Amino acid sequence: MALYTIGDLHLHFQSPLKAQSQRKERVWKDHEARFQKNCAALLGEEDTLVLAGDHSWGRNLDECEEDFRYLMALPGRKILLRGNHDMFWDANKTEQLNARFAGKLHFLQNNYFPYRDYALVGTKGYTFEGPFYLDRRGRILGWDEKAEEHARKLVERELQRLRCSFEAARAECYRKYIVFLHYPPTSILEEESGFTAMAEEYGAEQLIYAHCHGESRFHDSIEGEKNGVEYHLVSGDYRNWVPLKVLP
Ligand SMILES: [Fe+2]
Ligand SMILES: [Fe+2]
Repeated sequence: MALYTIGDLHLHFQSPLKAQSQRKERVWKDHEARFQKNCAALLGEEDTLVLAGDHSWGRNLDECEEDFRYLMALPGRKILLRGNHDMFWDANKTEQLNARFAGKLHFLQNNYFPYRDYALVGTKGYTFEGPFYLDRRGRILGWDEKAEEHARKLVERELQRLRCSFEAARAECYRKYIVFLHYPPTSILEEESGFTAMAEEYGAEQLIYAHCHGESRFHDSIEGEKNGVEYHLVSGDYRNWVPLKVLP
């Protein structure tokens, strides 16, 4: 029995956004088949796989049908987190998704899922990604303050959702936590955030995040141990489509 994770599969078996969403880098070539093969080699039916958001380019549930079929066919228990591209997932209708896919896919938001004596908690998260204003050498001179103000509100809402997830687990007497976010825990210029503070407050052992694609984005946030929490980036291209083993 083991816990694995990865994010950003960006499936598009039937989405019309396929042409524009098709990424050109080599790491994305046949990534669906490569990921499937890696899962088959690593995971058994007794294992758990947390998919850390950006599952599908489909704009609604109908357009995601084949993508869901692909996910359901992966080995183990699949737990999904909401990514910024997951338009099929209305944040207010997570319970309906859990009812619709009961026993097949599990959706993590405002709730938690047990794994051994751990609670798997999480939410989409949010970070400010600019626009930044740069000088000719690429140094940051400033940023769009209105956009930053808006980002602050979204961060606040996501922090409430994460607390809701932690509290649901705590109410059931869980004291060991693994946190999953889709967005990195900190914005590019930050060393800490409400998310890192909350992970520390509850004594979470690990915080897993995704969303960052391409070499230039892989170091946008924290990696490794900080104040007792282990941070891991698990976007699919960063992991070369090999899920990370989080716990035995
Ligand atoms: Fe993504
Ligand atoms: Fe994303």
